[in-house]
Amino acid sequence: MIPYGRQAIDESDIEAVIAALRSDWLTTGPRVNDFEDAMAAFTGTSHGVAVNSGTAALHCAMQAIGIEPGDEVIVPAMTFVATANCVCYQGGTPVIADVCRDTLLIDPQDVRRRITPRTKAIIAVDYAGQPADWDALRGIANEHGLILVADGCHALGATDKGRSVGTLADMTTFSFHPVKHITTCEGGMIVTNNSEWTESMRRFRNHGMTTDGRQREEGKGWQYDVPGPGYNYRLSDIQCALGISQLKRLPQWLAHRRMLAERYTEALNYVEGIEMLSVRSTVEHGWHLMVVRVDSTKAGLDRDHLFGGLRDHGIGANVHYRSLTLLGKFSSFARSCPVAEAASEEIITLPLHQGMSSEELSHVIHALKECCKGAVR
Ligand SMILES: Cc1ncc(COP(=O)(O)O)c(C=O)c1O
Repeated sequence: MIPYGRQAIDESDIEAVIAALRSDWLTTGPRVNDFEDAMAAFTGTSHGVAVNSGTAALHCAMQAIGIEPGDEVIVPAMTFVATANCVCYQGGTPVIADVCRDTLLIDPQDVRRRITPRTKAIIAVDYAGQPADWDALRGIANEHGLILVADGCHALGATDKGRSVGTLADMTTFSFHPVKHITTCEGGMIVTNNSEWTESMRRFRNHGMTTDGRQREEGKGWQYDVPGPGYNYRLSDIQCALGISQLKRLPQWLAHRRMLAERYTEALNYVEGIEMLSVRSTVEHGWHLMVVRVDSTKAGLDRDHLFGGLRDHGIGANVHYRSLTLLGKFSSFARSCPVAEAASEEIITLPLHQGMSSEELSHVIHALKECCKGAVR
């Protein structure tokens, strides 16, 4: 099966992990700071906070900006459920906004319509690897005094007008799950220029404690306080060793992803009934996911039939995502998001990852053409 996304591990990663295993620190050691510094440098931000998942990163962000019961946070309908769940963890209410039809990025006009006196923040997702329209969102945030959080879990290495994902919002979260641009097995990071939030998140990931084990061991004494809430969201040194090693290869992986995306774009232009999502003119896309729309009106195709056909050809197609408004947890209180709901029935994710070869790409395109013929109702 050619998976839609997959990690790429080489000998240098394995050596880095072994070196960590042989060191004094398996967790909360020097590699955590090194990985945080490397991610801050890569994204052009001042601080990184390493945590043990992208979901934990989102939760830390919500806590740092003070989300509490009664607060509303606007999130896009087309995203992974963690983008909304993190608001619920703090007792807040996720308010779901629709997306633009051509990009499936959050629609700034719909965001504006969903603002109430209780709105405190907007989380936008750089869906599939493409930065959202942060300039429009910044305008709205400034008008209403809102905080902007980027769920950048798809978009490490993407840019808009030359500005990196990481610098476009007040705080940006990443995931290092194996299907993402780089992996630490499980893992996540928040980057920001805000020192106060950084300190707050460093405590929150470590039970709310004011010092961590290494600080206490390396001479600051045994004392600590717990001034507020916290969890165990720590990322280990072993995982950070892997992350540092992976990050070194990210530029070449991004170039490979962009090459694959270009070849997909050229080829899919000639497949009746398959429509690419638009790429905004100012962005350099990160191409985490190759999401295409199956246009059932034009060619009489059926997305689920196509999905099954691709699986029969050994292609691990997937669907990212069902609109949050269609999920049981949110459907009772969310207002409908017609664009995201329609897209939920039409989109399919094709394989695209750093280890994917040209031969595999040709196989996927060939199979897609075959299935499109076969999928006509
Ligand atoms: C947009 C988005 N946000 C958040 C997450 C959560 O990341 P993790 O799986 O590392 O908790 C993911 C992961 O799939 C994601 O795609």
